[in-house]
Amino acid sequence: MQIVFGIDFGTTNSALSAYRNGTVEVIAVDGNDRGGKLMRSVLYFNEENEIYAGQEAIRQYIGEGAAGRFMQSIKTFLPNTSFVSTEVFGKRYTIDDLVAIILRKLKDRGEAHVGHTVDSVVLGRPVVFSPDAAKDAVAEHRLEKAARKAGFKNIWFQYEPVAAALAFEGTLQAGEERTVFIGDFGGGTSDFSVIRVKGGAFARSDRRSDVLSLGGVYVAGDKFDSQVMWDKVAHHFGRYARYKTMGKDDWNNIPKSIIYTLCQWHRIPLLRARKTRELIRVIKGTTDDRQAIEHLENIINDNFGFLLFQAIEKAKCELSRQEHATIEFTDRDLCINEGIGKGEFEMLNADNFEQIAACIDDVIERSGLLPAQIDTVFLTGGTSRIPSVQALFVARFGAEKLANRDAFTSVVHGLGESVPLFTTPSGY
Ligand SMILES: Nc1ncnc2c1ncn2[C@@H]1O[C@H](COP(=O)(O)OP(=O)(O)OP(=O)(O)O)[C@@H](O)[C@H]1O
Ligand SMILES: [Mg+2]
Repeated sequence: MQIVFGIDFGTTNSALSAYRNGTVEVIAVDGNDRGGKLMRSVLYFNEENEIYAGQEAIRQYIGEGAAGRFMQSIKTFLPNTSFVSTEVFGKRYTIDDLVAIILRKLKDRGEAHVGHTVDSVVLGRPVVFSPDAAKDAVAEHRLEKAARKAGFKNIWFQYEPVAAALAFEGTLQAGEERTVFIGDFGGGTSDFSVIRVKGGAFARSDRRSDVLSLGGVYVAGDKFDSQVMWDKVAHHFGRYARYKTMGKDDWNNIPKSIIYTLCQWHRIPLLRARKTRELIRVIKGTTDDRQAIEHLENIINDNFGFLLFQAIEKAKCELSRQEHATIEFTDRDLCINEGIGKGEFEMLNADNFEQIAACIDDVIERSGLLPAQIDTVFLTGGTSRIPSVQALFVARFGAEKLANRDAFTSVVHGLGESVPLFTTPSGY
């Protein structure tokens, strides 16, 4: 009996499904999140070079604080050709080594569940890892290498929104046909497709001609968090602080690049570079906001960026169901308590919403159809919960066409359903 895994390696969350005998099962891979169906795509290395993933990584990180190294949004680094490897406690890890650790954990948990070794996998990939074709190819190649290192021998790729379409297809009656706009709004990317689906055992045949258009943009949940950090929180870390250089009387602003890096929290460790630290020390000597610069030093040294961003993310998620939220965070003498309104959140992110809207319009246009010719809009991914994301579709298609299903497991389910496309002779 052949079993094939589907793996959705996400920027924020990862999940695993197993295909066997024509059925797909989403397998619990981790502790608390949504019945264990999701594993946070995070790693924690302690000083003994023990490596933890998912909830266990978060527990260790919170328990041990600054001692180890915590990593998140690793998927974001896949197309980044200037990021080749990183050193953790004297050991060098390439990006595919890091991804392989997560894939291996998922594989182990899946194998424990099905009671077999499994060496074939359908991996999801965003439509656009990078707008630069060369970098996009590097990203897919690295992901494939990671899957090999994790022990997979047969590896296929499926576009994440196409996988979501197959999950939607599974909800249709046999023979029922629809043209669907798929929107998958995750942590790192928003991916779209216009695709024809049909209920029944349709997934087994070649689907290329059903995909009318594909597209994606690098604006999703993480970007919204960064924007909130920039506008609402960064002033606690010296965004508006000024300083003087030796022997001169003029005030200088803190280099924007430091605050910019701070706002993409997975990049905060880059601020540990010696030159940057020295500059921050110089700034601290003359600044008009010494406390903020101390907070900046602390976040770099103590590695609490993840916890701070969790507070931001929590407020963002609350704004999906209420009008107002508060970003609350304390660490020693740092006490953040920033209210944020839903309208304010939308305004701060207006440019991000516009980029998403432009990409949606482009994908509709390239499908050769008018919105009226598209029957259903199927939205998935955590970020699809944001009301103004939904509003983009209501404005174009009307509220009655919107269908929302489980935001977090549609893609992995569809990856499992993609298996026959690759493993049967008629498949693509
Ligand atoms: N209720 C909510 N409101 C707004 N955003 C939410 C909500 N719930 C989750 N999110 C956001 O959704 C994102 C995670 O969604 P998801 O698990 O679909 O992403 P992913 O698959 O890991 O990412 P990608 O597909 O881009 O690689 C995070 O940015 C999270 O903050
Ligand atoms: Mg996803």
